[in-house]
Amino acid sequence: MSISGKKILIAISGGIAAYKIHFLIRDFVKKGAEVQVIMTPDAEQFVTKLSISTLSKKPVYTDFYSDNGTWNSHVELALWADVMIVAPCTANTLSKMVHGMCDNLVIATYMSAKCPVFIAPAMDLDMYMHPSTRKNLEMAESFGHVVIPAESGELASGLIGQGRMAEPETISNTIDHFFNSHQEAQTLQGKVVLITAGPTYEALDPVRFIGNHSSGKMGFSLAEEASKRGAKVILISGPTAQTINDKNVELHKITSAKEMLAKVFEFYDTIDIGIASAAVADYAPKEVAKEKIKKNDENLTLELVKNPDILKTMGEKKTHQFLVGFALETQNEEDNAKGKLEKKNLDMIVLNSLRDEGAGFKNDTNKIKIFTRTEKKEFDLKSKDEVAKDILNFVEAQLLK
Ligand code: CTP
Repeated sequence: MSISGKKILIAISGGIAAYKIHFLIRDFVKKGAEVQVIMTPDAEQFVTKLSISTLSKKPVYTDFYSDNGTWNSHVELALWADVMIVAPCTANTLSKMVHGMCDNLVIATYMSAKCPVFIAPAMDLDMYMHPSTRKNLEMAESFGHVVIPAESGELASGLIGQGRMAEPETISNTIDHFFNSHQEAQTLQGKVVLITAGPTYEALDPVRFIGNHSSGKMGFSLAEEASKRGAKVILISGPTAQTINDKNVELHKITSAKEMLAKVFEFYDTIDIGIASAAVADYAPKEVAKEKIKKNDENLTLELVKNPDILKTMGEKKTHQFLVGFALETQNEEDNAKGKLEKKNLDMIVLNSLRDEGAGFKNDTNKIKIFTRTEKKEFDLKSKDEVAKDILNFVEAQLLK
């Protein structure tokens, strides 16, 4: 996948290295990319909007409003971009980014961006080595951003050391490499994939619930992988610590099984593939106490009623959707999984046995077997990201039949 036709958003902050951005813009435009530039107010001390807009062939924005009274939507700018590059990224802008100090257009746009973010820091050597900068760069990396390290050499202050912004050529090569390595085949292009994930919580009273240990990892890995393959993903998740920031993934957070069912059926007619990886609570308290249940008697008896079976309902209402279920079993694993395939009118079921070490919903790994009505395939213990690939490869192979 080349850079040609890609949408690149460059955010310039106020450092002397800003002058080098002219070369970067020219390089991207030459290669056929669309370049939109935004700047912090301080960046205007170093480069002019006119020189930048002449090279990028687009207006340059520094504020939420233009002089002619039009609003520069940071959300639109952010969602437009395939990648965002903050270069040069000063210590101040870096700190605002990682701490969410949203006081200018660059930070507001950054915080609205769902695309990969690249950061090319530029500052004096002592600032670059300061523990606060080190910590902020670490934080940026923990958000999934790519830091293009500063280079060593003579700095604007006259000092010599690390702090110079990476050369435009280095930044350009990093972006080229990114697009080339994301050349994943768009095998699910045009498909809508709905995934349920995580646990459901069934309220007992205002402060308590019945739930389970599902982390939601398997469902989130599936969502990420389906998105990489070009699908539009609707991810419906119960309460979990997992997050996802991906242009193609629409995340809907719900709490209870009933809410999950309602959300699934908002989209059901429009989807091509449904994957139910959620660990839905099978029962919910019959009554939800309005006030906190007080400790009185020696025993407390709770009356539970059956929750809707979301996947079974999907199976009953199936018209064209390809349905994938999960079965988490502790005994008679294969028979139980095949039973669920039939009972829920599925096309495919993924079995994980709690008897296999490393499998199940609390781990980062999983060991699965896949069944259709006619096939069976067994896989090794793998990371959930790798398992997501195996599952989607299998789905794609079935769709081609
Ligand atoms: N499932 C669902 N709604 C439920 C229960 C389960 O959508 N109320 C889905 C799960 O997401 C999974 C599949 O059905 O894809 C099987 O879930 P599992 O808990 O293994 O089976 P159950 O049908 O709940 O049966 P049992 O608990 O008796 O094994």
